[in-house]
Amino acid sequence: MDLIFEEIDSTNDYCKRHLDTLEHFSTVQALFQSKGRGRREHEWQSEKNENLLLSMVIKKGVEGRNIHQLTQVVAYAVVLTLQEYGIDAKIKWPNDIYVDDQKICGILLEGVFGPKLCGVVMGIGCNVNTMNYQSIKQILGRDIPVAEVKSLLISKLIFCYQQYENKQYPRMLESINSIAYLKDKWIDYGKYGVVSFRDLQEDGRVKIVNQENEESFVYINDISLQKNGVNEPSFHK
Ligand code: BTN
Repeated sequence: MDLIFEEIDSTNDYCKRHLDTLEHFSTVQALFQSKGRGRREHEWQSEKNENLLLSMVIKKGVEGRNIHQLTQVVAYAVVLTLQEYGIDAKIKWPNDIYVDDQKICGILLEGVFGPKLCGVVMGIGCNVNTMNYQSIKQILGRDIPVAEVKSLLISKLIFCYQQYENKQYPRMLESINSIAYLKDKWIDYGKYGVVSFRDLQEDGRVKIVNQENEESFVYINDISLQKNGVNEPSFHK
């Protein structure tokens, strides 16, 4: 099932409301969202027709799935899609995609429980033709059909999810770690002090090492680079 709405509140919210009638791998696209949502209650605003606003529903095999891992699977699918355009994108943990220190895509995964996990909505906002933020057009210097990006992304999402189902996550994680935006960067990380970010682990934690070479394993939420004296790359908000 592939639904396209000219305007809707949020493709993620639509999927959550209609989870019962949406099949596994259904996609919902909006040309405009009136209440597009990002993580941590942020808004996700996007000019009409300019960018890809897409949600995909996962229903099969979700029970007991690790949302941290699924987020990485989606992020990896986005990077593979951008690679098709020759774009070298990186994953900024936990779920942003950066190109040249600027965010080009945000990901919002939401589980639907009833009471067990019965579906996951994978929401992706990818900047395609906007000139206000980092976008595929800004990088390539030409308009790109949103529908083309969408169909590439859907095939990568399905491919990556199937790999994940086939227990290929450890292999995928090696590639994911090789395209990590924060890897080996030294950042003042709150109570941990100045640390270097090493590899993402299978359980969703990241290994960090301080200047005394002491290791810790932490779940990464948002890492504000601004707090640490580095300019925060522009957020699509
Ligand atoms: C973030 O960076 O905070 C995540 C942004 C996710 C935006 C996408 S656009 C399609 C889907 N529908 C929404 O309301 N949000 C996600």
